[in-house]
Amino acid sequence: MSQRMQQGQPMIVMSEDSQRVKDKNAQDYNISAARAVAEAVRSTLGPKGMDKMLVDSMGSVTITNDGVTILQEMDIDNPTAEMIIEVAETQEDEAGDGTTTAVAIAGELLKNAEDLLEQDIHPTAIIKGFHLASEQARAEVDDIAQDVDTNDEELLRSVAETSMTGKGAEVNKEHLSQLIVDAVRAVTVENADGENVVDLEFLNIEAQTGRSVGESDLLEGGIVDKDPVHDNMPTAAENADILLLNQPIEVEETDVDTEVSVTDPDQLQKFLDREEEQLKEKVDQIVDLGADVVFCQKGIDDLAQHYLAKEGILAVRRAKKSDLEFLKEVVGASIVSDLESATAEDLGYGDVTRDEEDELFYVEGEGAHGVTLLLRGSTDHVVDELERGINDALDVVAQTVSDGRVLAGGGAIEVELASRLRDYADSVSGREQLAVEAFADSLELVPRVLAENAGLDSIDTLVDLRAAHDDGDVTAGLNVFSNDVENTFEAGVVEPAHAKEQAVTSASEAANLVLKIDDIISAGDLSTDKGGDEEGGAPGGAGGMGGMGGGMGGMM
Ligand SMILES: Nc1ncnc2c1ncn2[C@@H]1O[C@H](COP(=O)(O)OP(=O)(O)OP(=O)(O)O)[C@@H](O)[C@H]1O
Ligand SMILES: [Mg+2]
Repeated sequence: MSQRMQQGQPMIVMSEDSQRVKDKNAQDYNISAARAVAEAVRSTLGPKGMDKMLVDSMGSVTITNDGVTILQEMDIDNPTAEMIIEVAETQEDEAGDGTTTAVAIAGELLKNAEDLLEQDIHPTAIIKGFHLASEQARAEVDDIAQDVDTNDEELLRSVAETSMTGKGAEVNKEHLSQLIVDAVRAVTVENADGENVVDLEFLNIEAQTGRSVGESDLLEGGIVDKDPVHDNMPTAAENADILLLNQPIEVEETDVDTEVSVTDPDQLQKFLDREEEQLKEKVDQIVDLGADVVFCQKGIDDLAQHYLAKEGILAVRRAKKSDLEFLKEVVGASIVSDLESATAEDLGYGDVTRDEEDELFYVEGEGAHGVTLLLRGSTDHVVDELERGINDALDVVAQTVSDGRVLAGGGAIEVELASRLRDYADSVSGREQLAVEAFADSLELVPRVLAENAGLDSIDTLVDLRAAHDDGDVTAGLNVFSNDVENTFEAGVVEPAHAKEQAVTSASEAANLVLKIDDIISAGDLSTDKGGDEEGGAPGGAGGMGGMGGGMGGMM
């Protein structure tokens, strides 16, 4: 045994199927995979970015510009690539927008790290430098950010529009940004310290296919997309007492299988009468409570429907649970799960009106706590992408309302950060300095790609931007609508500071995570679409990205 070791034959402790990639090869492998992911979303960045059409294995289609959605829908089968997708997911959770930026920066950091590795700079020095740079960048963002009046409607609309441009929501951005600002303000309350607290829980988004995007609307209250259970019922009720019921209005069924044998018709009649009575009783309980409207989450028996109609009560059955939960806030009701013990206190109060065209009810409460953004679009794909864009915009407006710090977009912040980081690099000693500089270069990817996606020369744009920032123009960015380098803050290209801080942090953390790995030990084959015989080397480019290899290849 010791003899064999001496002959340089390592002892094999891993199973035959397992794969091991080490040192430089491991780094190359990881960096290639991570970069492939970043490159997959780059072309969607900015207002002039293109969309992607993703077809899943069931053939269902998603058309989107949203970074995190693209990465989640892509059938990615590579552990490193999945780490990068987590960057997008964290960004989505923490900031709601900026997912493409975060992933693109992570990819660029790794690309630049690769060059440093080529120069024999040790990964730990790069990691340290990236970490220092990211901390410094956060501090600088805070320094650069402008504190704005959180009641400034025009500014909030700009924030919404900046986030919406390039997404399906763009066509009607004036109208939609106003709805978004109104919606966020409707669910904002001031806490004891005078700070704004935005609770998006009280904001419901309802997507409707059929009309045009411009007909989207904001309602103070909720929506129930159902019909009345009976034709003879009223279809609207003003100043109504509203019952939210989570119990069927049906004959109670026994838990065990029962069989009733009747020997004469009278008995049968009695049995039926008893059932009728039970239903009548339930309806009477509702009448006694004083309810004018019943939104029932469960079923309502035909006969009970008839009784309710006779009492002039508007009833809806099989309402969605989420709708009832929301209506609870809107009309101030409790959800009743046992009619017998319910009291008038449990009822809510509000107006119920009917939209005949869309066949749905609007429920508005007094001093409504809860609003509904009713999004409309011609087809499912349009509405889905609209909803994603609106969700991003809602998040950034909410952040701006609660945080009040904003930045100039269009690459302005990235170029300013890069310039400040280069100054900072001078104070960093050792090889870490090179990593800080590489970090600065990586941030400039954003304006470069914005320009590229708008069909402009990215080098020229970057040169112009750097010159402007050297002259002290902190807010100089690229406006892809005028194709000029200008004060993007004034042009209304405004982003919340928090989202940018998060993007920089998570990109650098992900890059560092990847860089720290020098040994990949896999229980199975690492690259599913390769033969596997290639002496454990690093697959180049997207080659190792299993699921992405074929179908997605053309996108990158
Ligand atoms: N008019 C404009 N001119 C130039 N850049 C703009 C303009 N409007 C927005 N941008 C920039 O576009 C970038 C945002 O693009 P996009 O929304 O496609 O990506 P993201 O926010 O990073 O990711 P996602 O929205 O997919 O989560 C920001 O850097 C923003 O400053
Ligand atoms: Mg965005």
